[in-house]
Amino acid sequence: MNRRPRRNRQNEVIRNMVQETTLSLHDFIFPLFIIEGQNQRVPIHSMPGISRFSIDTLLEEIGACVDLGLNVFAPFPGMPDKLKDKYATQSYDPDNLFARAIREVKKNFPDVVLVTDVAMDPYSSDGHDGIVENGEILNDETLEVLGKMALTQAQAGADIVAPSDMMDGRVGHIRHVLDENGFQKVAIMSYTAKYAGAFYGPFRDALDSAPKMGDKKTYQMNPANSREALIEAELDTAEGADYLMVKPALAYLDIIKLLRDNSNLPIAAYNVSGEYAMVKAAAERGWIDGEKAMVETLISIKRAGADVILSYFAKEYAQYLKK
Ligand code: PBG
Repeated sequence: MNRRPRRNRQNEVIRNMVQETTLSLHDFIFPLFIIEGQNQRVPIHSMPGISRFSIDTLLEEIGACVDLGLNVFAPFPGMPDKLKDKYATQSYDPDNLFARAIREVKKNFPDVVLVTDVAMDPYSSDGHDGIVENGEILNDETLEVLGKMALTQAQAGADIVAPSDMMDGRVGHIRHVLDENGFQKVAIMSYTAKYAGAFYGPFRDALDSAPKMGDKKTYQMNPANSREALIEAELDTAEGADYLMVKPALAYLDIIKLLRDNSNLPIAAYNVSGEYAMVKAAAERGWIDGEKAMVETLISIKRAGADVILSYFAKEYAQYLKK
């Protein structure tokens, strides 16, 4: 017996030396939920440890995260029902909650990078990512809204816009609108392979953005498909995406690897709300060690090939590294 892989596992120093994958705080994007009001920190029941912030407390939270070494954030707006309508018109109002939050963050933390969500659902009375007409989601009409929304975000100071809607042609349309308006520097992180599934529940609770009717299966992808992710990747790349994203992450590690192996663009993965909630719920019951499960989860996403990880664990992971 001359091959003994256990020789390289015999103590921690050696294990550290031969470790193939490492996680750095530079790899993370921390999603944050914003609401109207002042001095608000409203916990999200289905996401223990995560809250919705008013703009003032958002700035405090970002300050605390920056001190821990996190510099990239993905804010999401929780809009009051009365401002939602069929065409998501609030989404491109330059004084909407989201634009005000972006401006304030960039004013107070000019070095922080903001990845902003481009999708109708938080502003739509139908709770969909597109305009709904007779039960159908209209693609090209939705692109108009997405273009205006992305421009509003860029004008407010967004560094990277992230279309999460899955309409056809949105990356190309948004690139065109940004370029025409002098925002050549604003990058696009496309939700390239976003699957229609059960793991977004807690996020929809947080934003009260669940679809009022039907599901998202005519635009988000079928969880059974992987070749289709390559079609989406090809189109997004041709349309000018700067990053390709896979979402969710854990049930789709093979898709992360597939895009990694077939693209030279940076690959992002979204460790979504339901994935976070599962670890938290099991840990609360004492069924798993939450901290160890967090680290293992995050390293698995990196090992699969993600360069960038969006995760609700980002801050907790930063705190864990400080211990
Ligand atoms: C919607 C959007 C969703 C998430 C990010 N952007 C939900 C959805 O598609 O219904 C989910 C993120 C998460 O679950 O953490 N445009």
